[in-house]
Amino acid sequence: MREIQGLSYPLFIGDFWEVLLTKISELAPSQVFVLVDQNTKAHCLPVFLDKTGFSDSKLIVVPSGERFKSLETCQQIWRSLFKYKADRHSLLINLGGGVIGDMGGFCASVYMRGIPFIQVPTTLLSQVDASVGSKLGVDFNGFKNSLGSFRDPEGVYIAPGFLATLSDRELLSGYAEIVKHALIRDEALWRALPKELSKEHDLSAIIHDSVKIKRDIVQADPMEKGLRKLLNFGHTIGHAIESVMLESSEPWLHGESIAAGMICESHVALQCNMLGPEELKTLSDKILSIFGYKAIPASSFMRIVEKTRLDKKNRSGRIMCTLLEGIGNGTYDKEISEAHILKGLEYYANFA
Ligand SMILES: NC(=O)c1ccc[n+]([C@@H]2O[C@H](COP(=O)([O-])OP(=O)(O)OC[C@H]3O[C@@H](n4cnc5c(N)ncnc54)[C@H](O)[C@@H]3O)[C@@H](O)[C@H]2O)c1
Ligand SMILES: [Zn+2]
Repeated sequence: MREIQGLSYPLFIGDFWEVLLTKISELAPSQVFVLVDQNTKAHCLPVFLDKTGFSDSKLIVVPSGERFKSLETCQQIWRSLFKYKADRHSLLINLGGGVIGDMGGFCASVYMRGIPFIQVPTTLLSQVDASVGSKLGVDFNGFKNSLGSFRDPEGVYIAPGFLATLSDRELLSGYAEIVKHALIRDEALWRALPKELSKEHDLSAIIHDSVKIKRDIVQADPMEKGLRKLLNFGHTIGHAIESVMLESSEPWLHGESIAAGMICESHVALQCNMLGPEELKTLSDKILSIFGYKAIPASSFMRIVEKTRLDKKNRSGRIMCTLLEGIGNGTYDKEISEAHILKGLEYYANFA
């Protein structure tokens, strides 16, 4: 088991079960609730119950997927808490991916003005990304994470063993955030990252290194005033690709969009003389060998460019982006143009 220090809450990776039980007994909750979605109920809950020996915890089950990261589902969670007469000393354990962690944390943060909660993330994305930074929330009015807050959990407990039941596609999608962390901060990690990800691999070391990068950034800028924008690398164009592909018959996963976004934005860095041609080639080749090439129809390019205009990181109509100034060294608040983005997309399309 490894502990990551320096956050305002404990974070453990590996065989943490004893430590988790100690933490829960220290909190001395009046009742323990476990929030799961349909998939984590089937795949993760049996392991959780076996390891913790819990028999008297109350289960709250919600449907799986981003579609249900909503106020309606929050109401269902709050109603369950009321039904079981949860008081201010109740504990909520969020056992699931980023949707369960963000939404369960948000529900806990406002129920009775806030009850303690613990995150047990079960997807690679939630283990390396959503688990650090204390951002909570739900989607509202068609906008992702438009209602939410910052609040610390009592602890984050990461078991890479949960990844065994995750689909290969979801696993790879989470890997994109690890690749991003390496590219913005740690060239050595970037070099060490395997080109093929397999569930048989013990991912603890990679998860550990990746979480440490996010920890360092979040610690330096908890309220997202500056440095934390580094974490947006690949996301200005990536989010635009994700939302355009969402309208297609085969929507892309978040990480798949970010992988393509990182290649496009690295080409923008080349256009801005921040990244050399050799670096761009190495980066593109490795990302494509990990994630494969997924075609973006040329007819969507202009819609993607338009979507980048809506990015919430923009300022006074200018498109702001995080770019690499060499591999392992991200810089934020770089203004880019629509022409840059279009050329980035064309560069990506060349790999077809
Ligand atoms: N708070 C933050 O800082 C932060 C950062 C990044 C992403 N997020 C949020 O995280 C969400 C995405 O997270 P996600 O990709 O984990 O999505 P998710 O929670 O929807 O999980 C993806 C799918 O995997 C299933 N699943 C989860 N664990 C499983 C397991 N071990 N075995 C089998 N199936 C499993 C889920 O039921 C779901 O169908 C988004 O809503 C995003 O906004 C938050
Ligand atoms: Zn992301």
